[in-house]
Amino acid sequence: MSTVITGASGHLGRLVVDQLLAGGTPPAQIVATGRDVDKLTDLARSGVTVRRADFADPLTLDDAFAGADTLLLVSTTTVGERFDNARNAIDAAARAGVSRIVYTSIVNASTARMTLADEHRRTEEYLRASGSEFVILRNGWYLENYTDQLPMITQYRALLGSAHDGLVSAAGRRDYAAAAAAVLTQDGHLGATYELGGPAFTLTELAATISDVLGTPIAYQDMPVADYTAALTAAGLPPEMAAAVADADAGLARGELFTAREDLVKLIGRPATTVREAVQNAATAEETR
Ligand SMILES: NC(=O)c1ccc[n+]([C@@H]2O[C@H](COP(=O)([O-])OP(=O)(O)OC[C@H]3O[C@@H](n4cnc5c(N)ncnc54)[C@H](OP(=O)(O)O)[C@@H]3O)[C@@H](O)[C@H]2O)c1
Repeated sequence: MSTVITGASGHLGRLVVDQLLAGGTPPAQIVATGRDVDKLTDLARSGVTVRRADFADPLTLDDAFAGADTLLLVSTTTVGERFDNARNAIDAAARAGVSRIVYTSIVNASTARMTLADEHRRTEEYLRASGSEFVILRNGWYLENYTDQLPMITQYRALLGSAHDGLVSAAGRRDYAAAAAAVLTQDGHLGATYELGGPAFTLTELAATISDVLGTPIAYQDMPVADYTAALTAAGLPPEMAAAVADADAGLARGELFTAREDLVKLIGRPATTVREAVQNAATAEETR
């Protein structure tokens, strides 16, 4: 019995491996994969099996998934390649005899119109039609999407966006990782689609929280999607990513990143990280850097 974690060289996959180990899963039952296995050497030292898996190269997937019964399929990063990547992984899992696949999708994947939802929706449809047993984790926005911007936000004393007064149900990567670890280790989740997100806030409320925690006035500056795209590009984001992020804010404004469901709290058995906690933690980490 072993569980393959893809994207273990990235933030979310790594947190899932850490939480499985912390929860008592024997290292020998975990296969941690990524394209760059050099990032996984410490896991190999702790007894976790490490294998190279590149979704663009299906032969690597056959080797990576061999002998596993469960796959955590963490969506890949490059917009436009994510569906093909996931399809390759689902096909390889079938060839390898993997009996269940847990896929990290996006909240409201079946109804959201934002560009980022499209490949997740197609992947979910492909997975449902694949005949494999599955669990779909529709992850909401990461709080880190905002806290990673703190240095820039404080520098310009402004939080930029195109979200109007839309609500975002964000949670920390650690919360989503805990949800993944729960469905990987507990019975009773097969066939479920979970809408995951933390306590909702508007970007005006986020700016007020940042102001309060840092003791510096920060304003939320709402702008048209084209202007926000240009600002993100000027800040160094690749143009396609800048366009996708600004388009996601338009989706946020339409309510596409909001969920009232309590699936995350139920799965992890505790409240999700609040935006105030996330800002406080990030500010403390910034001070001690
Ligand atoms: N909910 C949100 O707010 C939000 C925000 C950002 C991203 N996401 C999604 O959530 C996923 C996980 O988030 P994260 O923070 O862990 O991202 P991350 O730190 O960038 O990690 C991405 C992982 O995907 C792997 N990967 C990318 N392309 C691959 C390919 N062709 N074949 C095999 N592995 C590949 C990377 O492997 P290498 O180390 O080998 O490159 C890395 O391990 C992202 O990939 C993205 O789809 C969600």
